[in-house]
Amino acid sequence: MVDPTFWKGKRVLLTGNTGFKGSWLSIWLEMLGADVTGFSLPPPTDPSLFVLAGLDRSMNWIEGDVRDGAKVLGTVRRADPEIVIHMAAQPLVRESYLDPVGTYATNVMGTVNILDAVRLVGTAKAVVNVTTDKCYENQEWPWGYRENEPMGGYDPYSNSKGCSELVTSAYRRSFNLPVASARAGNVIGGGDFAKDRLIPDILRAIQAGERVKIRSPHAIRPWQHVLEPLSGYLTLAQAIYRDPKTYAQAWNFGPRDEDAKPVEWIVRTLCALVPDSKGYEIDSNPQPHEAHYLKLDISKARGSLGWEPTWDLETTLGKVVTWNVELTPTQIRSY
Ligand SMILES: NC(=O)c1ccc[n+]([C@@H]2O[C@H](COP(=O)([O-])OP(=O)(O)OC[C@H]3O[C@@H](n4cnc5c(N)ncnc54)[C@H](O)[C@@H]3O)[C@@H](O)[C@H]2O)c1
Repeated sequence: MVDPTFWKGKRVLLTGNTGFKGSWLSIWLEMLGADVTGFSLPPPTDPSLFVLAGLDRSMNWIEGDVRDGAKVLGTVRRADPEIVIHMAAQPLVRESYLDPVGTYATNVMGTVNILDAVRLVGTAKAVVNVTTDKCYENQEWPWGYRENEPMGGYDPYSNSKGCSELVTSAYRRSFNLPVASARAGNVIGGGDFAKDRLIPDILRAIQAGERVKIRSPHAIRPWQHVLEPLSGYLTLAQAIYRDPKTYAQAWNFGPRDEDAKPVEWIVRTLCALVPDSKGYEIDSNPQPHEAHYLKLDISKARGSLGWEPTWDLETTLGKVVTWNVELTPTQIRSY
């Protein structure tokens, strides 16, 4: 799906390069021989994959805020990109309840600033805006959402990503920008240290010798290894670059249907894989609203892009455990 000959020497602007997904994608693009410029705030966590993998030293990146339109424009001019992958965001649901204004400013106006700078500079032949499975108006039904279903989002994070989708389609239609949006599921993998995310929370509890506390044990989510949607973004960028009329649109990149599992299944399986785990308990404190069912229909990416998930969920959880329990820092980058 990812064509190494395509990426060699391509000028790529990657926003959010200091984050979890951005660090993995930076490593991948570096391996493909792309000429990458990152644009981002500093790593959102400490520790971070960005520092552990040595990207803070090896990578060409510009520190900046997507809310700062002038800085964004200067960066796009300097990077002179052929391809733009925009993933800088405030990505946490709970944080969005604490800071809704900051979340909308980053996720909506940040996207406007990026797309407008790309429009003004005019060199990009493919742009991918990374949104989320949560951008859909959730109907609490057991089927996967398809790309043509309405945008929505109950909480400020999900809703801001629905807005970012609308911004994307407006820029595509109004300015003929070769821009697509990519909606991925709940991404897991080594190197995620975010707070209030299931896998990092489980691993932190295990390391502290505590029982894992879980919220919403029956909530079903489309879990996938971080490399799965990243391969989707790269495949999509290639396709837009070659044929923008056909591929600049919205795409889902989720797991196979059987890998959309309840939270409790994930916790039970992960605890069983880690020898020192003390098990888990349900957190009965009142929690902000969370959807019960969320699945993605990936028929379109399968049929039209030839994209396919590679690892099933058990293999993915095994990879998470290997990364967190067995790897030394020097092995992280080559893993
Ligand atoms: N992790 C998931 O499960 C998941 C699922 C679906 C979609 N996504 C989306 O993927 C993207 C990356 O998510 P992640 O999990 O790597 O998040 P992350 O928090 O690890 O990384 C976010 C990145 O955005 C940068 N950033 C945040 N605010 C910024 C600002 N105002 N200006 C410039 N940079 C800013 C951070 O510095 C960091 O580089 C986000 O757009 C997120 O919404 C993530």
